[in-house]
This record gives sequence, structure tokens and C-alpha cells, in this order.
Amino acid sequence: MKKIECDTLLKNIGQLATMRGGLRKGKAMGDAGIVKDGAIAIKGGKILWAGAPNGASKFDAQQVVDAGGLLVVPGFVDAHTHLVFAGSREFELPMKLKGMSYMDIMEAGGGIGHTMERTRKASYGQLVAESSARAQRMLEHGTTTLEAKSGYCLETKGELRMLQASIETGKLVGIDVVPTFLGAHAVPLEFRGADAYTKHLLDEMIPAVAKAKAAKYCDVFCEEGVFGVAQSEKILKAAAKKGMKSKLHADEVVALGGGRLAAKLGATSADHLLMTPKKDFKAMAKANVIGVMLPGTPYVLMQDRYADARGMMAAGMALALATDLNPNCWLESMQMAISLACYKMRMTPAEALCAATINAAHAIGMGDIVGSIEPGKRADLVVMGARTIEEIPYRWGSNLALEVWKRGKCVAARE
Ligand code: NIG
Ligand code: FE
Repeated sequence: MKKIECDTLLKNIGQLATMRGGLRKGKAMGDAGIVKDGAIAIKGGKILWAGAPNGASKFDAQQVVDAGGLLVVPGFVDAHTHLVFAGSREFELPMKLKGMSYMDIMEAGGGIGHTMERTRKASYGQLVAESSARAQRMLEHGTTTLEAKSGYCLETKGELRMLQASIETGKLVGIDVVPTFLGAHAVPLEFRGADAYTKHLLDEMIPAVAKAKAAKYCDVFCEEGVFGVAQSEKILKAAAKKGMKSKLHADEVVALGGGRLAAKLGATSADHLLMTPKKDFKAMAKANVIGVMLPGTPYVLMQDRYADARGMMAAGMALALATDLNPNCWLESMQMAISLACYKMRMTPAEALCAATINAAHAIGMGDIVGSIEPGKRADLVVMGARTIEEIPYRWGSNLALEVWKRGKCVAARE
């Protein structure tokens, strides 16, 4: 029989977590689509085939790579990051240790306002350089696709500069970047109150971002003292009219109703959901809103309450996982996010991995392109220095990514 030609055959994969079969909701998240002793055929940067070793003999590969019996997972998809910003805020740690809250720190001159000043002043080159250094480390930890928000300039030109910097960073580092407009991250001092700034967002900023086709999503920090539910609704509806899909920072500090609003608007995702009341889970499930879990945030906020991931899955929601990388929560590793998801939110390793790959891809509109190892998908994968998916959360704090492959090529390797 004539063999099928391919570029690369990756074989002797002790455990292959394919995550095949599309978005997983609720209980279905517990299935990682595992193949024992698997192999993967790659052609033109895409997966041609993935399965059990007996299927591999039908391929004639230019290059055969032995995975040494190790674990292979899809490249991680980080579905919520604030990748682009200037400076850092380690000075906030002693303030937190004294008992100051996130909002206290913001009022005392730290928080988003502090980063906004630095980011407004930074040159485009500096923004790209600082973001690329982070994105490179993310890639080395296995992240091959990420979402990146604006939101630290809060004026039209600066926000557009941030969105452009995120795209350029992606190109430089070789990571797929999905840009999100977060002009509604805080109310800048030039405006008296959220209503006046909301009007400016509607009149000038959203049209400008839409015209430049600079963002796929629009996000709002829907929070007490930031943007209320009615303002958030106005902003997201205006952006939707211009072709941007909706995301929300919802119920992070108080249960304001952001989760409910996400369901009402049919948003792609509602993120954080730390305080969301149980009764809102069903509404989100019904509206197909993906809950993006960000367990790094309660960790750095030094708070005991994490999102009720088990409750949301029981209600039938699809959950994704992300780092929330930002100057308050400087987490670059999806492996750490997976560990926090397991130990702090009681997700199983399979559920957390599902949330970090295929479901995360769906949360940023990339579900048909990345997030699983199955025919037609981009060949983005990670050879882990581990034998089972359980080891990822279990051996926390070390980088287990041995080889990171993007579009069929090994782009980061360690001994
Ligand atoms: O997702 N809550 C709003 N935005 C970020 C934090 C941004 C910052 O503190 O700079 C978040 O937690
Ligand atoms: Fe965030």
C-alpha cells in the first residue's frame, strides 16, 4: 500500500492528551481524549493524524521524532492576559501584607492608575520589548496562543498603540495573539466619573478601534466603583454593533451582576466570577457563556475565596483557564494556573487541562484552529518532562515543558 507523506512523525508518546471533540461543557470536561502510546503525523504545520501507534505505519515521514515515552499535550491557550504594559508593581506587596485591599491600593496611587501613567509614557518600542520578554517566557512554559487586552492608556491613540504592540509581540515571539479592547478598564482622571468616560468610549474610542480593525473582542471591568452594570451593557452593545464580541471582568471583587449581564448579552466569556452567586451559573450555561477561571488573582489578592468552578461545571458551564497576567498578578505559566485550578478550585487535572487548551481556545474564538491535537488543527503542542497529566499540577513551580512546538516546528527546547 502506498504510504501517506508527512513532514514529521512524532512517535512513542507515552500519554497523548488529544482534547479532541470540540468545546467541553460541565461533566464532559473530565475527558482529556487520552491515547496511550500515541503518535502524531504533521504536515504543512498542521495535524494530519493523531492516534494509536498501529496507525502510524501508514505514514512516510521526512523526519521521525521519538518522544521518549513522555506526555504530549496541546499547546496551552492563555485566554485572558494583560500582556502589554510598562513597569511593574512589586511595591504593592508590602501594602497587601499590611492588609490593604486591591481597591485601597488603587486609591492610594497604586493599581491600574500607576500602570497607566507608565504605559502612557512608554515608547512603542519599549512596550513591544517588555511584552515580548514576557511572551517569550510564556512560550517557553508551553503557551502557544494568548489573548491580550489593552486598557492601560485609556485614550484612543494609546489604546490603539497597545493593541498594535500586542500583535507585533505575537509576530516577534511566534505566538498567536488575539487582541481585546479594554478601554473600559478604569476611569481616567481627565473624566469626571464613569458616565462621562462611557460617553467618550461610545462616541470616539469604540468607533476608532472598530475602524482600525484593531480588536476582536471588547471587555469591561464591570465592578463596584469602576463600571456599573448599565454602563457595561451600553459599552458592550456599542462595541457589538461595530463587530466586536463581548467579554467581561465580572464579579471579581463584589457580586455586582456581571455574570448575569454576560448571560443576558450572550457574551463569549465572563471572566473571574469569584463572587458570582450560584443562581447565575445556570443562566450563563444556558447562554453558552464560557467562564474564564483566573485562580492566580485570588492568590495574589491573598484571599481565600476562589471561583466556584465545581458549582459552575455542575450547572453545565464550559470553563476555560488563564493566567490574567498583569502587573497585579504577574503569572506567566499556564502550568501554575493548572496547579492552582486543581488545588484551590478542586478541578481534576483533566478538567484543568481541558480548560487550559480546547475550552480556552473557544473562549477567544480560536476553537476551530488550535487547542486540540486532531486532524486539521494547527500543530501546536508541548512535550512535557512528565509521564501523565496529573504530574502537571502535582509537580508545581517547575517548568515541565521540554519542547514547545508551534505550527509543526520545535520553537523552544530545554534539556
Ligand atoms: O483582571 N481587574 C481588572 N483588571 C486586572 C488587574 C489589572 C491591574 O491591577 O493592573 C484583573 O485582575
Ligand atoms: Fe484581567
